[in-house]
Amino acid sequence: MSRSKRKWDHIQYALATGQRMQNGFDCISFVHQSLPNTAVAEIDLHTKIGELTCSSPIFINAMTGGGGQKTIDINRNLARAAKETGIPVAVGSQMAALKDSAERATYQVVRKENPKGLIFANLGSEATLEQARAAVDMVEANALQIHLNVVQELTMPEGDRDFRAALQRIEKITQSLEVPIIVKEVGFGMSNEAVSALRSAGVSIIDVGGFGGTNFSRIENERRERLLSFFDEWGIPTATSIIEARTNNESLSILASGGIRSSLEIAKAIALGADSVGMAGYFLKVLIEEGYEALLEEIHYIHDELIFIMTALGAQNISQLKKAPLIISGEVHHWLNERNIN
Ligand code: FNR
Repeated sequence: MSRSKRKWDHIQYALATGQRMQNGFDCISFVHQSLPNTAVAEIDLHTKIGELTCSSPIFINAMTGGGGQKTIDINRNLARAAKETGIPVAVGSQMAALKDSAERATYQVVRKENPKGLIFANLGSEATLEQARAAVDMVEANALQIHLNVVQELTMPEGDRDFRAALQRIEKITQSLEVPIIVKEVGFGMSNEAVSALRSAGVSIIDVGGFGGTNFSRIENERRERLLSFFDEWGIPTATSIIEARTNNESLSILASGGIRSSLEIAKAIALGADSVGMAGYFLKVLIEEGYEALLEEIHYIHDELIFIMTALGAQNISQLKKAPLIISGEVHHWLNERNIN
């Protein structure tokens, strides 16, 4: 199968198989406040991702690249929406474009459409320092995402089978690259152990990429003869993973993603400790099924609704929302008990 066909299949399968699972946010409730002492006009949505200042606490997470004209059009529209709404946007994995310059246009269109916006480059943890520099240069990126996707690779018939020394490569890139590094999962979540190891390696921004949305085991299983279906339910739900990541890691910038589909889930993710929230599959679905204008409208609605939620909670800014009182119940509560995390 050609790479470009595989990329397009990913998009189709992501739309068909994703967005069904439990992301853990049903177990999180805000404590209503009858005297919030605030006003809609006073709410400030600014946040920081590491040292990068963002006017919004949401971003478009890494999706696509390579794959020809269809993916160029998708990336152009994602970049336009990001520019129009002032939110950061990540490109998909650039490894193929580093090896074949014909693939570069699908990534570079993002910088072309959004010359001044925050753009994140993207590579896997197999990347070398030289490849990391080249990926950043290709899109004049403001940060580099390094994705960890062991379960996806194992499920992929032609995927990697050797995951040794990833942490050492990440450490080297973190020490030498001129832009910040964001280490992310792709829908299986990150444990406290993984996050602490990354912090010890000098990483200061983590995107938990939790379970509950786009499911790369299901996507890759669509292309297998004998299914590895045990991986379909594998992973740490996003709400749980935010708490795992945040515990004993107060200095880190934590980004939440994985199955986030609404302003309420965004607010809950921030109240659990996230500094910003990424969405991939949901934005792709809106773009492909309803078009560019619908995507733009959706991002504007999300911003407006977040302002309402923060007003009701009496949280004037993202740091105050991070401290909003909440109740954790059900499976997330059980998980944290078992893990001795309070
Ligand atoms: C992705 N994702 C992804 N991540 C990454 O780091 N590099 C990549 O190239 C891709 N490619 C990709 C393609 C498509 C079609 C989708 C839907 C997703 C993963 C993405 O960034 C995110 O981590 C997961 O999709 C979980 O978030 P959602 O989709 O549940 O919001």
